[in-house]
Amino acid sequence: MGRIVYVNNEYIPENEARISIFDRGFLFADAVYEVTAVLGGKLVDFSGHMRRLHRSLQELSMEIFLNEEELLAIHRELIKKNDLYDGAIYIQVSRGSADRDFLFPTEHPLRQTCILFTQKKDLRSVKPGISIISEPDIRWGRRDIKTVQLLASSLAKVKAKQAGKGDAWLVAENGQVTEGTSSNAYMVTQDDSIVTRNLSNSILAGITRDSVLRLAAENNLKIEERPFTIAEAQQAKEAFSTSATTFVQPVIAIDGVQIGNGKPGPLTRRLTEIYFEESERTAL
Ligand code: PDD
Repeated sequence: MGRIVYVNNEYIPENEARISIFDRGFLFADAVYEVTAVLGGKLVDFSGHMRRLHRSLQELSMEIFLNEEELLAIHRELIKKNDLYDGAIYIQVSRGSADRDFLFPTEHPLRQTCILFTQKKDLRSVKPGISIISEPDIRWGRRDIKTVQLLASSLAKVKAKQAGKGDAWLVAENGQVTEGTSSNAYMVTQDDSIVTRNLSNSILAGITRDSVLRLAAENNLKIEERPFTIAEAQQAKEAFSTSATTFVQPVIAIDGVQIGNGKPGPLTRRLTEIYFEESERTAL
C-alpha cells in the first residue's frame, strides 16, 4: 500500500493526489518547503522548522492559513496514518495555481497548494562518515529562503555520487565554503574550535545547526561563526555537516584529502550523541 499524503485539507492515498499543471511551484519554483525529522514517531525541532517556514513564506509575500497548532496536528496525523517511526515529513507550500505569468496573480486570496508527505529513513545507525567533493556554488542569492529551487544542489549531489562520494560542499567565487548541498558545513580546528559559516543570505539557517551550536555552547565547546575554505577544512582535525535528515554527519575526506585519521573525530561523535539524545528527549 502506498503512503497517505496531505493535499489541501485532505488525507488521501499518494496515487490519488493531484495538483494543477498551472501550479506556480511547478512553473516558477514559486514555493517553499520544510523537512522535519521524525524520531520514534515524534517530531524533532518542530517549532524551529515551522518558524523558518513562516519566515520563508514572509520573504516571498506568501502566508499560510494554518497556525502552528494546526500544522502540528497535521504532521502528527500523517505520522499516525503512515505508522511512521523513524523518518521525515516534508511540507511544501506553493503560491497556488494561476494562468502562467511572471507577475504574482492578483486574485486574492489565491488558493495556495499545501502538501505534506512522509519518508521512512534510518536515523539511528552509527555513521562511518562520508567523503565529499567541492563544487562551485551556482545557486541564487537568497539561500536563506528554503525554496524548492533545488536543481543546483541536485546536480552537485549527482556529481558527487558519480565520483563515488557521499555529498558535495558548495564553494562561493571567493573560495569560501557556503554549505553542503542540503546541509550546513563545519570543521574543527587543531585547537578544537568548531567553525561554521556565519548566517547571511548565502546559506540556509539550519535548524539542526541552531540546536547543535546551542548544545555545543552549553557543553563549553568553542565555536567560531565565520567562513572557511576547502584548504582550511582539509587541514582541520575534524569535519562534519548537519541537517534534519542526517543529524550530525561526519566528513572523513574532502576532494581526496583525508581529514584527521580518516575516521569520525571525537568532537563530531560527541556532538552526534548529544544532539541525538536531546532530540529524543525533546521531540514532540
Ligand atoms: N535540507 N542547507 C541547505 C541548503 C539545506 O537544504 C538544508 C536542509 C540545510 C540544513 O537545514 P536543517 O538543519 O534545518 O535541516 C542547510 C533538507 C534536509 C532537505 O532539503 O532535504
